[in-house]
Amino acid sequence: MPRQASLLALFLCLLTAGVAPAADLSVADPRCEGLAEAPQVDTASPRFSWRLETKARDVRQTAWQLRVTEVDAAGRALAPTVESARTESDETQWVVLPGFVAQSRRTYAWQVRAWDNHGGASEWSSPQVFGAGLLGDKWPADWIGDGRTVERAKTMPARYLRGTFQLAKVPVRARLYVSAFGLVEPSVNGRPVTRDLFVPGWPDYRQRVFYVAYDVTALLQLGDNAWGAILGDGWYSGTMLPLHQYGPEPMFSAFIDLTDADGHVTTVTTGRDWKWAEGPVTMNSIYQGETYDARREDNRWNTVAGGGWAWQPVSVRPARRVYQSYTARLSPPVRRIETLHPVSRKEVRPGVYLYDLGQNMVGWARLKVRAAAGQEVTLKFAEMLGSDGQIYTANLRGAAATARYVAKGSGTETWEPHFTYFGFRYIELSGAGQPLDDAVEGVVVHTDLPRTGTFECSDDWLNKLYHNTLWGQKGNFLEIPTDCPQRDERLGWTGDTQVFCNTALYTMGAGRFYRQWLYALRDSFRDGPGGGFADTAPNTGHGHGSAGWADAGVIVPWTAWLHTGDRQIIEESMPSIQHAIELMANEAPDGIRHSPASYGDWLSPGFELFKAPPSYELIATAYLAHSADLAARMADLTDRPELAARDRAIHDRVKAAFQRAYLAPDGRIAGDVQTSYLLALAFDLVPDDRRAAVTAHLIRTFAEKDNHLSTGFLGTPLIMPALTAAGRADLAYTVLEQKTYPGWLFSVKNGATTIWERWDSWTPEQGFNKDGMNSFNHYAYGSVVGWFYDTIAGLRPLPEAPGWKHFRIAPTPGGGLSSAAATLQTPHGLAASRWRIEAGRMHLTVVIPPNTSADVELPATSAAGITLDGAPLGKSVAATGRTVVTLTSGEYTFELPAPAQ
Ligand code: BGC
Repeated sequence: MPRQASLLALFLCLLTAGVAPAADLSVADPRCEGLAEAPQVDTASPRFSWRLETKARDVRQTAWQLRVTEVDAAGRALAPTVESARTESDETQWVVLPGFVAQSRRTYAWQVRAWDNHGGASEWSSPQVFGAGLLGDKWPADWIGDGRTVERAKTMPARYLRGTFQLAKVPVRARLYVSAFGLVEPSVNGRPVTRDLFVPGWPDYRQRVFYVAYDVTALLQLGDNAWGAILGDGWYSGTMLPLHQYGPEPMFSAFIDLTDADGHVTTVTTGRDWKWAEGPVTMNSIYQGETYDARREDNRWNTVAGGGWAWQPVSVRPARRVYQSYTARLSPPVRRIETLHPVSRKEVRPGVYLYDLGQNMVGWARLKVRAAAGQEVTLKFAEMLGSDGQIYTANLRGAAATARYVAKGSGTETWEPHFTYFGFRYIELSGAGQPLDDAVEGVVVHTDLPRTGTFECSDDWLNKLYHNTLWGQKGNFLEIPTDCPQRDERLGWTGDTQVFCNTALYTMGAGRFYRQWLYALRDSFRDGPGGGFADTAPNTGHGHGSAGWADAGVIVPWTAWLHTGDRQIIEESMPSIQHAIELMANEAPDGIRHSPASYGDWLSPGFELFKAPPSYELIATAYLAHSADLAARMADLTDRPELAARDRAIHDRVKAAFQRAYLAPDGRIAGDVQTSYLLALAFDLVPDDRRAAVTAHLIRTFAEKDNHLSTGFLGTPLIMPALTAAGRADLAYTVLEQKTYPGWLFSVKNGATTIWERWDSWTPEQGFNKDGMNSFNHYAYGSVVGWFYDTIAGLRPLPEAPGWKHFRIAPTPGGGLSSAAATLQTPHGLAASRWRIEAGRMHLTVVIPPNTSADVELPATSAAGITLDGAPLGKSVAATGRTVVTLTSGEYTFELPAPAQ
């Protein structure tokens, strides 16, 4: 790597000669198609993004210049550079280089430099390397497998596959492209190709396979070379759900493009010359776990030497007989992210040791043992302990979630599983005799997204709730957004995703993660009555079109665009969004959506499943109005005025029907529960002259519950925004701060380290909820954390300027808080809002990134007594009880009279 780095630096120096940059302006965080690492960009016109770095205030970019060069593995140019003119523009996100057309499977380095409104000029940014994907080329490699059938709900050993090839000269660039029906660990000459896990991911295999590319130049040698892959069932074969499997035989396909110094490319591929054998992974399954027999190890298996396994010819399926689309992975990969060490160890039965990691987490245990050859060590995983102090596994349902290691008997042996994962806080270890001091540690595994948001306040209860939500996101952001990570489910439930995505997009840079998942959601689409987006994506056959679930197909693109400014997310979803609105509108000829009942306000406390009020029909009607409204806005954004008009007409008709059918003259709404009023207010379904009456009923429904919530999956995310918009942030704080059931802090009080699926997943009176479906790591109710960012601290993106180009900072003190702070790494750089209340004064510091502006809305009705950086506040306007001042980039400090709480 140092060689590559220094040559890249040389490339940079050569290209930057002759520029006289200003001292303070630089460009940072180069992203190609939104990614810091972009190995397989599947567009000939990739979009580039960067941010400005400067210490100065009020900085705006006035111009940019971009250039791209095809490079070899050492960063040397292989072709002439394509360079733009200096272009007058303040755009720094999703910018296309005119005249540059990427060629299939080539590798490029790009750079940008920028000028600002103070006469500053940056140097060229350090080159970011990106690889072009297939760009319409045919996949050149055949598919190989072991020819055996995986029966539904049965587990199998993983297959070890190997091939060889010869090199007469060492290439200047070698890129390996990998695809699989199943999951693979690719290697070249005995060395792993990547630290990525669960390669190449989980698409809807009925429609597409993902591929990924890796640079393997440094792994190749003159003469004989060997390459290999361990192939697991993963999400493809029959062990996921008893009735669900994509196909009976996992398969692998790969090729390496070898580029000579003169730019000539030759390709080696998987094919009939490959062999397969069984190796040490003797059982693999996402739900059931993994068994590894270390006695079977032979480290030569993927080297030229080959080793001594019983190699057999592979089964082959020609590339031309694979009809799925080959799709470049869009999301960053899953990786090992952090390690947790046990906080305690106890021998709970003779020879059985219980470890507590102190945190409900997702991943697996790294095992260290010293044991005799053939000794079997068993690891079981659980989120909770029973009253007997033993692990509680009833809530895993059909997932055995067990890892077994058979020792080879050679000193200290270390092992981690390959194709499974677990959701757990506790590990039960048996069969290891007296365990080593460091026998287990928790390896936290999730999609490797940048952490963008932080939040902290003076109330440790809320800090803990924030922490629990963060861990809910870590644990359920493993390749796709899942409902839960532990039981025999772990699916892309769309309702959970849509309620949580706003929160998730604050906490992590999840734009590409959702954009990739939206492929699966669109692939799930079913035409005709009862169709629409599926309730799970990838579709696992759990139904279509459920209100509040299938609406994810509309809500997630909107929310991801709002946070990232990436119009492509909307563009590519537009046809299916419009189709979904049409199907739902067909079910609502009179404006009321009549469709088969579905989940409704799922897990609303005190009700049986599917029976919670308000009626499913009311919920479906409210959601149709909401989705039609968002669809109309997205049609406008993508210049489709006729569709926008149609969606608006649907929205207006449904809204009118909602009022006719459900809204009484006195403001009462059918069902008369919190969720009835929340849907109506949050989705703007109430006429202005009855808004106050409806709000009064909402407040009554809280008062009747002693100011506790009484909502499920769909009502809960609307509580804080609806109460805040109604001018009752004080009540929102009261509901939030309840520590008694039902409420967010009830689980915190009872020791939760993640968000529970149910408000009463566990109570001191009943113990575990008896109804079975009982996850302790379900992020849906963590959607409240969006309010921490956008209201407590007050950082909020605006649809008028998506991607944080212009945004709002409207801090809202309240409840028992004396201080709060949120930071957010926006696409333009750090934004922050920090406030504290002291001696009757509110002190507020805000940070606005370069090249952006913000409306700072202070909780004060007039500018009297407000200072900005120590001087009386000058130009401001009063709006909805707040004093608003618009500022450009920089850090600013305000002081004002503390608002009444
Ligand atoms: C999942 C939920 C999901 C629901 C559908 C459950 O089994 O865990 O989170 O949204 O089914 O109602």
